[in-house]
Amino acid sequence: MVINRNVQTLDEFTIQELRNFPRATGELSTLLRDIGLAAKRVNVEVNKAGLVDILGDAGATNVQGEDVKKLDVYANDQFMGVLRHGISCAGIASEEQDDFVIFNDEKSNNSKYVVMFDPLDGSSNIDINVSIGTIFSVYRRISEVGKPCEEKDFLQAGNRQVAAGYIIYGSSTMLVYATRRGVNGFTLDPSIGEFCLSHPMIKCPPDGKIYSVNHGNFYGYSNGVQQYIINCQKKTKENGGPYTERYIGSMVADLHRSLIKGGIFMYPATTSSPGGKLRLLYECNPFAFIVEVAGGKATTGDRRIMEVVPTKLHERVPFFAGSKNMMEELESYLNL
Ligand code: AHG
Ligand code: MN
Ligand code: MN
Ligand code: MN
Repeated sequence: MVINRNVQTLDEFTIQELRNFPRATGELSTLLRDIGLAAKRVNVEVNKAGLVDILGDAGATNVQGEDVKKLDVYANDQFMGVLRHGISCAGIASEEQDDFVIFNDEKSNNSKYVVMFDPLDGSSNIDINVSIGTIFSVYRRISEVGKPCEEKDFLQAGNRQVAAGYIIYGSSTMLVYATRRGVNGFTLDPSIGEFCLSHPMIKCPPDGKIYSVNHGNFYGYSNGVQQYIINCQKKTKENGGPYTERYIGSMVADLHRSLIKGGIFMYPATTSSPGGKLRLLYECNPFAFIVEVAGGKATTGDRRIMEVVPTKLHERVPFFAGSKNMMEELESYLNL
């Protein structure tokens, strides 16, 4: 097979795309390049994970009570490291840090962005060689540039995101990011170590045939969610079916599929987790932004994800996202 060398690299693309941004200074393209660099470093470790001592638990629990894996720690250090050393980021927040991190040095205080990320999504899939990912979300600070960033920069509603994206470490490694102008996907060409534009202007198909939910929690879901799932199982050719169920357990992989092929992804509230499981700031908001820019929808079940005003860093919400018409059918069930 011949690899097409006539494609744009991530750097070439972001510099061109973001040059036309209002008040563009090149900071956002630099930021995305930094994220791409960290992604390549994580990719190298993920690819040789079975060969080096990077599988398994790190021996700690994070602020949310989850067992931390060695790769969670490694990925967190890589993303935090590039953003701390780069020139575009005043501070970060991460799933694996108890609190947000204000870099507070001269170059960082003069940066206009803050970044939140889930360094390694799908931790439970690390040790068994199933797709995992990274999720990130970029905001323009609302505190004064020139001074250290503040908590309020991180607690902005999702509709204020400037950019959001994810990396999927799958059968190939891809970086997908969205600005208000569109969603674009880049595949890592390992022979040259560059992310190359492979999926320009991704649109989420308005209809799909795949639903994605943890069936093991079925009896913990609300009646409306249960009825919707039963409706999915009963679909026939006559009403857009039959549907297929797919649940990988890495939201990056499940949502990447839903974005490209059409589908719906759900992580509803359960009786044991009435607030939902997924984290608003670095899991749900970035995907809500990406899915909406691509033409889909993302809600908590009763409101747009991106309208939720966060009150704390590791806040959780019920999460439903995907193809527009599937989401609208789901909404008709949730109003039961
Ligand atoms: P993380 O590995 O970053 O903690 O996220 C795990 C999340 C998400 O990726 C996935 O969709 C979900 O947890 C799976 O949860 P269940 O195993 O409860 O279905
Ligand atoms: Mn986790
Ligand atoms: Mn996650
Ligand atoms: Mn994670």
